[in-house]
Amino acid sequence: MKHAKRIRRLGLGWLGGISAVLGLILSFLFSTGGAVPPAAVAKEAAKATSPYQMEVKPLSTIECGRCHFPVFDAIKQHGGKHQFDCVRCHRQYHIYNPRKKNYDQIMPKCAWCHKSATGGAFHGENKTLTPCLSCHVDPHQPLGIPMGHIESACGLCHVPEAKEIKTFPSKHQTDVACADCHADKHGFIPECSTCHESHSPDVEMDSGACMACHPVHKPLEIAYPKTTDSKVCAGCHEDVYGMLQKKVTKHTAVTCADCHPKHGEIPRCARCHGEPHPKSMKATQCGKCHGIAHDLTM
Ligand code: HEC
Ligand code: HEC
Ligand code: HEC
Ligand code: HEC
Ligand code: HEC
Ligand code: HEC
Ligand code: HEC
Ligand code: HEC
Ligand code: HEC
Ligand code: HEC
Ligand code: HEC
Ligand code: HEC
Repeated sequence: MKHAKRIRRLGLGWLGGISAVLGLILSFLFSTGGAVPPAAVAKEAAKATSPYQMEVKPLSTIECGRCHFPVFDAIKQHGGKHQFDCVRCHRQYHIYNPRKKNYDQIMPKCAWCHKSATGGAFHGENKTLTPCLSCHVDPHQPLGIPMGHIESACGLCHVPEAKEIKTFPSKHQTDVACADCHADKHGFIPECSTCHESHSPDVEMDSGACMACHPVHKPLEIAYPKTTDSKVCAGCHEDVYGMLQKKVTKHTAVTCADCHPKHGEIPRCARCHGEPHPKSMKATQCGKCHGIAHDLTM
């Protein structure tokens, strides 16, 4: 055999042909020499039993996968809890007949195994979530739900979020749909920066920092902690920030958010200072002598 290969590699294929013929003649000449024992012959015969004497085993899932590789692969990658044998769902298969138009009839039914979609908390209160395949478009990857198929149905299941957006009107209700933000695929959480620029370019802010002031589903309900960096306020109130920095008083060290814990609210001096002067001074209009809180001109 080695010999034949080398000959072929040399491009001398015709020599190979000749040697094969020679080999056949030689093996014929010598085959009559050594007789084969009868026991071995019997064994060979047993091996070559007719296929009709063997048992047909049902196809394994791997075997289905050999022909239906895309389906197999989808289940392998994204099948989730549907990663079980094909035939548990496909009790029958290979019986589709275009003339009978029996496709829907022969396909597995969700209801065989799922009593209903309305029992679980996941489908909310709605009782009309059928047909299942209108959302779960591919039973071989049951949670691969295209956004387009549930766009108008978010509120059915996410009742608190839908209610919150409605209760606190903002442009996130009127100008943006749920699926504009939660785009691409179900469960996606967007970054504010895909649609907005920071109004305080001096301060690095991720979505979490934005949401410290703007709860995303009610963005105008602005609330922030006292520790908020005054530079964030400076993004819009540059003049005030500048004033506090220019004339250093003990108020320079106080954060904007400490004095104005609620946006737009003006604090009373007494909140922090109580009664600093004797009553006899009748010093009720603090600003008359101390100027405005941001520069405290005497
Ligand atoms: C959880 C149940 C379930 C499992 C498990 C399942 N299927 Fe399916 N399969 C279905 C349903 C339901 C349909 C019909 C889908 C439709 O009508 O759009 C289907 C359709 C098909 C189709 C025809 C449409 C297509 O996507 O090409 C093939 C082929 C198929 N399955 C093969 C398989 C193979 C092979 C396996 C195992 C590797 C498998 N299925 C596992 C439920 C299942
Ligand atoms: C030797 C290749 C081969 C094997 C193995 C095979 N199939 Fe198929 N199957 C096909 C072909 C070809 C079709 C028709 C074309 C198509 O729809 O992809 C088909 C169609 C189907 C269909 C849709 C039409 C119908 O009549 O049901 C289903 C469902 C299906 N196969 C399931 C399975 C399951 C489950 C297994 C394993 C138990 C399996 N097949 C094994 C080749 C195969
Ligand atoms: C042969 C039984 C069977 C059939 C038919 C079947 N399922 Fe399932 N399905 C299961 C089992 C078992 C689970 C896992 C247990 C559970 O969550 O209830 C499951 C889980 C699921 C899940 C959650 C998947 C995950 O990874 O969390 C979805 C979604 C689902 N099925 C949808 C469907 C839809 C839609 C159909 C019809 C097209 C269907 N199933 C048909 C047995 C089946
Ligand atoms: C309006 C769209 C829609 C319809 C119709 C629908 N589902 Fe769902 N289903 C979903 C969404 C969205 C999820 C959550 C997916 C996730 O967790 O990412 C879900 C989740 C599931 C789960 C997994 C829940 C869990 O907690 O494990 C099952 C099982 C399921 N659906 C079965 C069904 C069945 C059966 C039907 C038909 C009777 C059906 N669904 C109809 C949208 C739908
Ligand atoms: C049929 C019910 C159903 C529908 C319809 C539905 N969802 Fe969901 N959604 C769920 C379930 C159940 C979960 C929770 C999955 C989990 O906990 O893993 C979820 C998870 C989410 C999450 C991720 C939550 C987190 O904690 O990370 C977001 C975001 C989301 N859905 C947005 C939407 C939007 C936007 C729509 C409409 C385009 C929508 N959903 C439609 C049932 C649904
Ligand atoms: C302007 C963009 C935007 C819009 C519009 C929007 N969301 Fe969200 N949503 C987000 C962001 C960002 C988060 C992450 C919140 C967090 O991490 O606290 C979120 C979180 C969620 C969650 C996860 C649970 C939670 O509250 O943290 C669900 C569910 C959800 N949104 C559903 C919806 C639904 C339903 C709608 C439409 C009624 C909607 N969203 C509209 C941006 C948006
Ligand atoms: C998909 C795009 C999108 C995403 C993501 C988004 N927004 Fe918006 N947002 C808008 C649009 C559009 C408006 C209305 C026009 C405008 O004011 O720019 C808006 C308006 C606002 C407003 C003003 C609301 C009003 O009624 O005046 C605030 C505050 C806001 N967004 C904060 C955020 C925050 C914080 C995030 C991240 C958690 C975020 N947005 C994510 C699109 C988006
Ligand atoms: C310290 C609190 C605070 C933080 C942090 C904050 N904002 Fe604001 N944002 C405000 C205030 C206050 C307004 C003005 C409201 C008004 O006009 O009455 C505002 C207004 C907006 C508006 C409406 C349009 C405008 O510019 O007036 C958008 C959009 C917005 N913010 C997005 C964001 C984004 C995106 C982030 C994160 C990069 C962010 N905000 C971080 C407090 C904050
Ligand atoms: C996105 C821009 C923006 C940011 C950021 C911002 N503000 Fe404002 N602020 C405004 C606008 C616009 C007004 C005036 C409109 C109004 O009265 O609501 C205002 C009004 C105020 C007022 C009331 C002014 C008056 O005349 O009554 C105070 C106090 C105030 N802001 C403090 C703050 C503080 C403190 C921060 C930081 C935590 C901050 N602001 C962040 C835009 C902003
Ligand atoms: C959020 C609390 C807070 C509010 C509101 C506040 N202050 Fe102050 N103020 C302080 C703190 C803190 C100091 C520094 C005290 C110290 O170091 O003993 C201070 C110091 C002062 C001083 C001394 C300045 C110096 O540099 O020695 C004056 C004067 C003063 N405040 C006046 C006022 C007036 C007038 C108002 C109202 C317009 C006001 N404060 C509102 C917290 C506040
Ligand atoms: C008639 C003028 C006048 C009025 C009105 C006035 N103050 Fe003063 N205040 C002064 C003078 C003068 C001082 C002492 C200045 C110094 O020591 O540098 C002072 C000092 C202070 C100090 C600093 C005390 C310390 O221990 O350092 C505070 C705080 C203060 N005033 C708060 C207030 C508040 C709050 C009001 C309004 C309720 C007010 N003042 C009204 C004149 C006034
Ligand atoms: C010590 C408390 C204090 C601090 C710190 C402070 N404010 Fe004020 N702010 C006031 C008071 C009090 C007023 C009302 C005017 C007055 O009586 O002095 C005011 C008024 C304002 C006004 C409306 C009038 C105007 O001047 O535009 C804005 C806007 C404002 N503050 C923003 C800010 C911002 C932004 C910061 C931080 C950079 C800040 N404040 C820090 C106490 C404070």
